[in-house]
Amino acid sequence: MEAIKCIKERRSIRKFQDKKVPREVIDEIVAAAAYAPSWKNTQVTRYMVTEDREVMNKIADGCVLGFEYNIDTIRNAPALVIVTMIQGRSGMEKDGSATTSKGADWGVFDTGIATQTFCLAAHDKGVGSVIMGIFDEASVGEVVPVPEGQKVAALIAIGYPDEEPKAPRRKEVSQLVTYLD
Ligand SMILES: Cc1cc2nc3c(=O)[nH]c(=O)nc-3n(C[C@H](O)[C@H](O)[C@H](O)COP(=O)(O)O)c2cc1C
Repeated sequence: MEAIKCIKERRSIRKFQDKKVPREVIDEIVAAAAYAPSWKNTQVTRYMVTEDREVMNKIADGCVLGFEYNIDTIRNAPALVIVTMIQGRSGMEKDGSATTSKGADWGVFDTGIATQTFCLAAHDKGVGSVIMGIFDEASVGEVVPVPEGQKVAALIAIGYPDEEPKAPRRKEVSQLVTYLD
């Protein structure tokens, strides 16, 4: 798919067909997301995937701060991706000191890029996704085994779309860009 078309036509999908996404397809999506840029190529983003209905229902019912869209989305999705990031590497020097005034914030930046790259690659393969930020990190950690030294950055529900939402309105270019000279 042409890049601009993929960027513009990707939508957040919250309703999915009752059809699994094959592991090979998920692997291909992750392989594409691995090409996202990252701080000094540290590649701190990781993806935990579950299709276990019991686990997903626990996250839907107990970990999304009661936010109904997320409860319904996760209960309806064939798979949930728990995006994690390794702490203390991106933005940091080998001796543990911060390279810039943003310190380890670069990890969040990297994981955001990787997450969007994941969603674009998924869209290219006909797989719908929605990034979810409304969750309680500690309670997600009680349901799934977040590896030591990693933090949960986002949840992504994935599956074959069962809706074609319109694009929410975007700001005009003139509101977004300032040419300085
Ligand atoms: C960091 C982040 C957190 C988000 N959290 C949620 C969420 O918790 N639940 C949800 O339904 N959508 C969530 N979204 C999706 C946005 O609502 C969506 O991207 C936005 O409305 C634009 O729609 P589009 O993705 O279809 O272009 C999130 C998106 C981002 C980037």
